[in-house]
Amino acid sequence: MNSKPIQILKLIFSVLLFNKRCSSLRQSDGLAEQFYYIAGVAEFRPEAIGTTDALSTHLQAYKEMIGSVEAEDVDIIVFPEGTLNKDFQLTYVPSKKDNVIPCSLSEEDNIYADFLVELSCAAQRFKKYLVINLTEKEICWINANDPRPCSHNGLNIFNTNVVFDRDGRVISRYRKTHVYVENKNTSYEQEYGIFETDFGVRFGHFICFDILFYTPAQELVERFGITDIIFTSKFYSELPFLTAAQLQMGWSWGNNVNLLAAGASYPVNGSTGSGIYAGENGILVSVMVTGNVGERKLYKAKVPKRNLNISLSNLTSSTMTAYNLPKYLRLLKDPQIENFNSILLNFQQETDMDGKTLCHGNLCCQFNISTSTMNSSMPNYYYRLGVFDGKRTYEKKEWNNIKICSLYACVTESVSSCGELSTPGNLNSSAVFLSISIKGLFKRSKHLLIMPNSLKSNLLPVPASKINWSKSLQGDSYEVSHQLTSETDNLLTFGIYANYYEGNAAERMHLSYFRKFYFLIMLYQKIFFI
Ligand SMILES: *[C@@H]1O[C@H](CO)[C@@H](O)[C@H](O)[C@H]1NC(C)=O
Ligand SMILES: *[C@@H]1O[C@H](CO)[C@@H](O)[C@H](O)[C@H]1NC(C)=O
Ligand SMILES: *[C@@H]1O[C@H](CO)[C@@H](O)[C@H](O)[C@H]1NC(C)=O
Repeated sequence: MNSKPIQILKLIFSVLLFNKRCSSLRQSDGLAEQFYYIAGVAEFRPEAIGTTDALSTHLQAYKEMIGSVEAEDVDIIVFPEGTLNKDFQLTYVPSKKDNVIPCSLSEEDNIYADFLVELSCAAQRFKKYLVINLTEKEICWINANDPRPCSHNGLNIFNTNVVFDRDGRVISRYRKTHVYVENKNTSYEQEYGIFETDFGVRFGHFICFDILFYTPAQELVERFGITDIIFTSKFYSELPFLTAAQLQMGWSWGNNVNLLAAGASYPVNGSTGSGIYAGENGILVSVMVTGNVGERKLYKAKVPKRNLNISLSNLTSSTMTAYNLPKYLRLLKDPQIENFNSILLNFQQETDMDGKTLCHGNLCCQFNISTSTMNSSMPNYYYRLGVFDGKRTYEKKEWNNIKICSLYACVTESVSSCGELSTPGNLNSSAVFLSISIKGLFKRSKHLLIMPNSLKSNLLPVPASKINWSKSLQGDSYEVSHQLTSETDNLLTFGIYANYYEGNAAERMHLSYFRKFYFLIMLYQKIFFI
């Protein structure tokens, strides 16, 4: 029934559309676009718990951000975990194989929730890649080979990342592997979220708590060679080593990959932290929100492409957004901090600290510290040099083997005050570090990530321009050195953080491990939730 004029109109229309797409990709400042893509990460405040119709408010805010002027030149936007739908507003999600554009389905073919369709339409309309996190449902019998018992309603409920391409097509779906304290199912077979883009970058993605484990996060880098990682989170920051931006920077640096991290913004509950990181080139943009309300804001950066063999160091520029006092941000504390072998740093006798060696377990670290104090006042933080080699748990369910060499702040002389913040309103430390050098020998291991770790009292890391990092293999150990090279005040943490992941368990991981892990979770849930 297509008459000629309609075909011609369609042709004109598609040419117009095509031009629009190309022009939106063009960058105005003359930097060659083949070296960059433009990414945006949303620090996103969810509606307060109990808000009626939070989903439609969230959806509206997502769409506004996607269509905003700031987002105009952005190729890919990442939204954080847990800021869209709730467990009673589930949706099916197509897999990549289904090759579905939810926006383009006719009403009778559409089995997806309206909000998923609307976001597919927004991706299509504004020609952007979108990454969102949602709560997904799937009928159990679709996975015929899964022997685990299905719940009574016949559904599996997953915490899922969904990726749309510029046509609104679902090109990737990843279900969270390391569920935290949430009542969610896990996939029977390990999934890896990987997708390609039209700007020549291949991405991997994972969710929140996954960042602390080998599978799938570290595997995306080591086994699949992915250089650009997307991380959606609602991350609960922990002092002194695992606050959000601190860990994001360290993970990106330690792996030397780009990391796009979007965080749910809910500081009173402990979650905030978004940023875009360029591996050893440091932070492109980073934010920790510490006010009492959280925010909804798109942070964007030009991200250098890693598959090109060019020097990136002077192609990046950095913006860090710090908020004043972290007084509303609820912070956890490292449960092992009192078990470190540590000594108090003495500001009167700084020469004492030259070449100081401390050991714990199989790890020895060497510290060279040079300090001065501002004015005559004593600093309102005490500092310890500490070493730790051991196991740590997270909410008792999962654990990692960790090795740390670090300097960290304490409120009093007592070790029990380390990893706490000095009274709000009085956060500035008058101690100035002129230089710090921390060195350690870290035994080689199949599953290992060694990260620089630093934190200032604004809860952002020390910028890359002020540090030196080196790691070289000597026999069966890595010789690692982390140095502060220019004067810095308001320091909370400076050190080396090595995650040996799940130790021996990691060797026999994959399916058998996940089966056991799954039963443990079920057992835990039986005991505590049912
Ligand atoms: C993804 O979003 C859903 C819905 O808000 C939430 O229940 C789930 O916990 C989120 N995923 C993660 C990893 O938080
Ligand atoms: C999914 O989780 C529910 C609730 O915890 C549980 O009853 C059910 O057995 C799980 N299903 C699968 C296939 O793991
Ligand atoms: C990068 O910096 C170096 C030295 O500062 C300079 O010689 C070089 O031209 C710069 N490269 C670019 C692409 O700007």
